[in-house]
Amino acid sequence: MSAKPQEKAPKTQAGDRVVEASFFAGAKSAAQYPPPALSEIAFVGRSNVGKSSLMNRLTERQSLVRTSSTPGCTRQISWFRTVSDDKAVIDLVDLPGYGYAKRSKSERKEWASLIDSYLLERPTLRAAVLLIDIRRGTEDDDLELIQMLEDEPRVSRAPLGIICVATKMDKLPLNQHKPTLLGLQQKLGRPLLGFSAVSGLGRVPLWRKIRELAGIGAFEDLTVVPTREGDGV
Ligand code: GTP
Ligand code: MG
Repeated sequence: MSAKPQEKAPKTQAGDRVVEASFFAGAKSAAQYPPPALSEIAFVGRSNVGKSSLMNRLTERQSLVRTSSTPGCTRQISWFRTVSDDKAVIDLVDLPGYGYAKRSKSERKEWASLIDSYLLERPTLRAAVLLIDIRRGTEDDDLELIQMLEDEPRVSRAPLGIICVATKMDKLPLNQHKPTLLGLQQKLGRPLLGFSAVSGLGRVPLWRKIRELAGIGAFEDLTVVPTREGDGV
């Protein structure tokens, strides 16, 4: 008898596939940000945790975002526009990794203030996906970042969604997935989703959560009830 599959593949539904994805802006300072327009989802985490690889896997593109085994590869904030198979458009934002010790102190400070200003001042930011390497667990930087994401923003906007993701799950034997995820989840005090850019584990649930926090899907429940002449269609 064949073994029971460990992870049930979720049934695909409209919106699960990204049909278009392209880079549209890069910034090394707040003055270079593109004007705020659509819902943005930011990807944050320590250098080398797998942010760029996760974004490639999410969008099912080989090399939309540049990845590297050398920490500190991403040196700017990059915006990518995605269109799903149900025509929903979401902007994904790749942030430079924090906590990379080999940069000079002033360079690290500059990066930290760029990340802070983006996360606290971007009016169209809807959620941050915080990546944690499953083998390294949380470090002080990660906990500080969660605190900052919960801080009062400096602009008027809805409270940020926070999605915690454990990366590089393929590096753990399958029988360690559940206990390691549960242990880390307990330490974080919030739900944690396992992901692998190599196998694609976690792609669909993460994409669906991102869409939900970007405000897509609310449309399914939207009913337009005209109240006055000229309202609605
Ligand atoms: P910075 O841009 O430096 O902040 O790094 P990053 O967080 O964008 O990481 P990146 O995606 O460039 O990946 C760093 C290294 O980890 C690369 O060598 C990737 O191939 C590897 N990597 C990323 N995700 C996974 C994964 O899910 N599994 C495995 N096995 N390796 C991964
Ligand atoms: Mg990167």
